[in-house]
Amino acid sequence: MTDIDWDRLRTEAISAMRRAYAPYSNYSVGAAALVDDGRTVSGCNVENASYGVGLCAECGLVSALHMSGGGRLTAFVCVNGAEEIIMPCGRCRQLLYEHSAPGMLLHTVSGIRTIDEVLPDAFGPRDLEEARA
Ligand code: THU
Repeated sequence: MTDIDWDRLRTEAISAMRRAYAPYSNYSVGAAALVDDGRTVSGCNVENASYGVGLCAECGLVSALHMSGGGRLTAFVCVNGAEEIIMPCGRCRQLLYEHSAPGMLLHTVSGIRTIDEVLPDAFGPRDLEEARA
């Protein structure tokens, strides 16, 4: 996973950010990720007059992942309206974790990090399986 074209992925995130619907916060976000089969998926935030119903960019990205054939995310970046890299919010780190490939990388405000670094000791599908066993 050392051959990730982060510049291209960030450009995809910027394109997605330009599609954001964020009339309430005025804070546009775009996210883009690589899938383990080489596809790229992206998403933008979509807000709502009922504020709490708003969707983060990562929600759209995960929907796009499944709508375009599924798979696991290997690399991720998200940007704000100033095209700056931002951290995915806590809820979205959980969302990404669910669909991550082992060792998934994120371009963050503090450099390249693994999903385990940005969501340590994550609760995930395995916890449910263990409880069922
Ligand atoms: N937002 C995202 O889309 N993703 C994040 O990871 C952080 C926050 C959006 C939600 C809301 O529409 C706006 O940014 C301001 O919080």
